[in-house]
Amino acid sequence: MHARHHHGQHFQFAVALTISLFLPATLVVALVTAQQSPTEPLNGNWAVRTPNSDGTFRTTYLNLKQEGARITGTIRVTQFYYRIAESTGGPEGFAITGSMMDGKSERKVQYEGKLVGGELHISTRRRPTDKPTEMVAVRAPAGEGALPPRNPLPALRKVPDNGLARTPPMGWNSWNKFASRIDDATVRSIGDAMANNGMKAAGYLYINIDDTWEAGRDAKGNIQTNKKFPDMKALADYVHSKGLKLGIYSSPGPNTCAGYEGSYGHEEQDARTYAAWGIDYLKYDWCGARTLYTDEEMPAIYQIMGDALLKTKRPIVYSLCQYGRLDVWKWGADVGGNLWRTTGDIRDAWDSMSRIGFGQNELAPWAKPGHWNDPDMLEIGNGAMTETEYKTHMSLWSMLAAPLLAGNDLRNMSPEILAILTNHDVIAVDQDKDGKQGKQVWKSGDQEIWSRPLAGGAFAMGVFNRATAEAKVTLKWSDIGITGKWRVRDLWLHQDIEWPGPQSSITVPPHGVVMLRLSH
Ligand code: GLA
Repeated sequence: MHARHHHGQHFQFAVALTISLFLPATLVVALVTAQQSPTEPLNGNWAVRTPNSDGTFRTTYLNLKQEGARITGTIRVTQFYYRIAESTGGPEGFAITGSMMDGKSERKVQYEGKLVGGELHISTRRRPTDKPTEMVAVRAPAGEGALPPRNPLPALRKVPDNGLARTPPMGWNSWNKFASRIDDATVRSIGDAMANNGMKAAGYLYINIDDTWEAGRDAKGNIQTNKKFPDMKALADYVHSKGLKLGIYSSPGPNTCAGYEGSYGHEEQDARTYAAWGIDYLKYDWCGARTLYTDEEMPAIYQIMGDALLKTKRPIVYSLCQYGRLDVWKWGADVGGNLWRTTGDIRDAWDSMSRIGFGQNELAPWAKPGHWNDPDMLEIGNGAMTETEYKTHMSLWSMLAAPLLAGNDLRNMSPEILAILTNHDVIAVDQDKDGKQGKQVWKSGDQEIWSRPLAGGAFAMGVFNRATAEAKVTLKWSDIGITGKWRVRDLWLHQDIEWPGPQSSITVPPHGVVMLRLSH
């Protein structure tokens, strides 16, 4: 270590000397001064500020400390705080690797850079083969962007049930289609569409704004909205005037997933703000909390907001979003959660949707009125799956008693997509008042039968074909544990069908479903 350090200094000196033969005197002086300065020139807090279109900035911080040939410190990118674990070089050219534990897995970032004048010119790439992204970092005040100290955890206790979401929440969420391109005008027009196109009549109620509405905080610590949402209270009033409800998004960490302001240390204050605005639903996304707290500490952290929401006395549905870690279904209800995500983010793709949907079987015992497993929002109508696949999506989510949160642009969808989202027969299954989640009762290769008990002794049955070719499924009532005579309704044809007998074959299209309701 030491030998290399001295070596480096000699090398730098030699470079300065060589360059000085060709450079104007002022620069040579600058170089020499830098060499002689008592503190290392890389030391300090560096910020790369990228403006968002909403008046906020996405800032990456490099807090660097050069000690001999080593650079230590931290890197913050959106919600992630990395510790610098490896480094080479110095001001004239360095490479650093940041590392953090995210639950049980390690995340890494790599930056290369050099000091140019008073700025840090840096570049990063996700994978070694990617083209590097170039950035310029400038000096930032010490402490800006730093990880705040850990707040103590409350003792665990059972948060009283808020009495909401007796059936799985239905509505819409901005993220899948709009991501950061969501604003007041879009939310209003989505509300108009939902109120008028038959969705509200079909049971869709919540209009949920996801990440990127936030700005910073005022001097009293009150959360501010950014330019895209000039007046959240007025927006809530508008949505309420349509007979709909408004939802919002935050994180228990200092930052949200998209790097916006989180609720850390302001939980009660934010809950009060939401209530004052007229918010009816909160999605609370782990994100930036992961550097401060371990997964094992999640229940206590989620309990803080569960309590805070109750304290406002406003009915606010509480949606936990922590990707199903730590078997959230076992404790989600105890911390006041009405629903909890059971998986990572869905994508508008058959693989993603089917892997998530068909992977929920073990979680059935944990769903009950007021407390639901949430396999993520719908992708129906976003364009990358076929109508058959979207019908499977809708059917499967309803078999699972999953929240039905549309994620497409409700203002311009085809009649076919609208018909899928508003299939009242399928929605009735999802919203069944007994709130029992369906289970897989039969499987052979790519064909699966799922069954869901419904109120009054009826049940829903989904015959799914996960293969890319049409399949004939022989349905034996003995296989699915029933006997006797049943009235059978096809929930996509919307009609009762003649059922030949306790053993009969049906044809299911590729990636498709036949969904039935059996009753006496
Ligand atoms: C996470 C969540 C998504 C969405 C984004 C927003 O990825 O799982 O549903 O809320 O954050 O940044």
